[in-house]
Amino acid sequence: MKAILYVSHAEQTFDANALTELLQQAQERNHSQNVTGYLYFKSPYFFQYLESENDEASEIMASIERDPRHKILTAFSQNFEGARRFGEWNMKFINQQGLPKLNLEQMIIDDMLSINDEVYRNEKRWKNNILNMVSTIARNQTQQAQQPRQPA
Ligand SMILES: Cc1cc2nc3c(=O)[nH]c(=O)nc-3n(C[C@H](O)[C@H](O)[C@H](O)COP(=O)(O)O)c2cc1C
Repeated sequence: MKAILYVSHAEQTFDANALTELLQQAQERNHSQNVTGYLYFKSPYFFQYLESENDEASEIMASIERDPRHKILTAFSQNFEGARRFGEWNMKFINQQGLPKLNLEQMIIDDMLSINDEVYRNEKRWKNNILNMVSTIARNQTQQAQQPRQPA
């Protein structure tokens, strides 16, 4: 499996309509390419995690990189064995309301923006930290899915 992670800076205002449109476009294409993952937005930053069995995520990433609506600040990829982390999500949108207790997303963004000499020396550990946070979000997502729905 191949995973791609990045943080970008929005170069335009993303209101609810712009986000919905972006997500629809992303979900359709990801579905057709069998790419899964999630997109987190906390203005002005996006964090996105994309995964695919082969090189599909990289192909989509090439489009994402060219997109003038944002500017990529830091990105890295990982090859891993086993199952997808977000098999159910063609591109789930998460914002702060979706993660009321966890502030993991902000930690990931801060971590990815903190790249400096020290981080470069410990790049492996740095990437592992970020991937661990993503795995926690993946676990949290399956736990939520397994919990019975609360009566309205
Ligand atoms: C923050 C952000 C996330 C995006 N995520 C995806 C995505 O997951 N999948 C996708 O197909 N397009 C995504 N897009 C849209 C692509 O950048 C691009 O507009 C779209 O894939 C069409 O590609 P093309 O211009 O090469 O035809 C995203 C754009 C932004 C700004």
